[in-house]
Amino acid sequence: MENVIITGGSGLLALNWAFFKKKDAHITLLLHQRKAFIQGVNSIFISLDSEIAMYEFLLKKQSCVVIHCAAITDVDFCETNAKVAYETNVLIPENLAKVCHKLDIKFVHISSDHLFSGLNPYSTEYSEISPLNVYGTSKANAEEKVISSNPESLIIRTNFFCWGTSYRTSFSDFLINAIREKRKISLFTDIFYTPIYAKNLIEFVHTLINSNYKGIFNIVGSKRVSKYEFGKMIFNNFSGDMDLITKVQYEKQVNLIQRPSDMSLSNDKLVETLNVKIEKLEDQIKCLKLDENDFKKTINYL
Ligand SMILES: NC(=O)c1ccc[n+]([C@@H]2O[C@H](COP(=O)([O-])OP(=O)(O)OC[C@H]3O[C@@H](n4cnc5c(N)ncnc54)[C@H](OP(=O)(O)O)[C@@H]3O)[C@@H](O)[C@H]2O)c1
Repeated sequence: MENVIITGGSGLLALNWAFFKKKDAHITLLLHQRKAFIQGVNSIFISLDSEIAMYEFLLKKQSCVVIHCAAITDVDFCETNAKVAYETNVLIPENLAKVCHKLDIKFVHISSDHLFSGLNPYSTEYSEISPLNVYGTSKANAEEKVISSNPESLIIRTNFFCWGTSYRTSFSDFLINAIREKRKISLFTDIFYTPIYAKNLIEFVHTLINSNYKGIFNIVGSKRVSKYEFGKMIFNNFSGDMDLITKVQYEKQVNLIQRPSDMSLSNDKLVETLNVKIEKLEDQIKCLKLDENDFKKTINYL
C-alpha cells in the first residue's frame, strides 16, 4: 500500500484525506499543536520548519508521498500577522519541497483559488497571478518557492467543501448548522467560486500522483456559483427553510479585508489531462450528506 504523509494533520483537508484514503493507503498525519486521531492512521507531532527533523523523519520512510496541507488559512489573521503567515505559508512548504527533492519523494503542495484579482471568471493555470491580500500573496509566493526548490512537485489549486472538525467548521457546516438551528444567515451574491467535494479532490490528486504528473493543476468543480447559490443548493439538499437566507452584496460591505470577488478556476487542464468527467455539484453535495455519520464517528480529538 502507498505511504501517504499529510501535514496539517488536525486540519479540515488532512482529516478528510485520512478518512477517505485510510482503507487503501498507510496514512501518517503530521500534527503541529492540536491533536486529532483516526483509528488505523498514524499521528505524530513534528516541526515542519526544521529541515533536519523532516529529513531524518522522511529518510526512514520507504517510498512515500507528502501531501502538504498545513497552512494558516484565516485570511483576517494573515492580514495582521504577515510575518507569521510568510513563515508558515511560504517557508515551510519551501523547506518540505527541498527535503523531498533531496530524498526523491513526491511532494504535493495544496494551494488556493485566492491568487487572482477576481476580475475574471474561470482562471486557468496560466492566468496572471495578482493576489489582493496577505493570505493570497503568501500562497502565491509558496508556489514559486516550491517550484524553484523542487520542480517535480505537484501544485494543486482548489476550493473544497467537506465536513468540518471540532476545531474548524467548513462553509458547508456553517450552512447546515444554520438549517438545523433555524438561524438566519446572510450570503454573498457577488462572490463566485467553483467548489469541489474534498472526496473528489483527493481522488483526482491521487490519480495525478500515480501517473507522476508535476506542475500546477486546478482541481475544482465545473459549476461557478456564488456563495448564495451554493448556500441554496445545500439548503435544498438538507431541507432547509430558504427564508433563513438573506442575500447580501460583498461590494457593499465596509471594513472587510479585500478578497477576490471571482475565485472561479477552470478545470479544463485536469479534465483533458486525465480524460475524466467531474461529477455534478448537486451529486457531490448528495455524497457529502451520505458521508456525515461515518466522518463524524471516525475522528477522535483526545
Ligand atoms: N478550507 C478551504 O476552503 C481551502 C480553500 C482553498 C485552499 N485551501 C488550502 O488547503 C490547505 C488545507 O486547508 P485547511 O482548510 O484544511 O486548513 P485548516 O483546517 O486551517 O488546518 C490548517 C492546519 O495547518 C496546521 N498548521 C498551522 N500552522 C502550522 C505550523 N507552523 N506548522 C505546522 N502545522 C501548522 C494546523 O495545525 P494546528 O491547528 O495544530 O496549528 C492545522 O492542522 C491549505 O493549504 C489551504 O490554504 C483551503
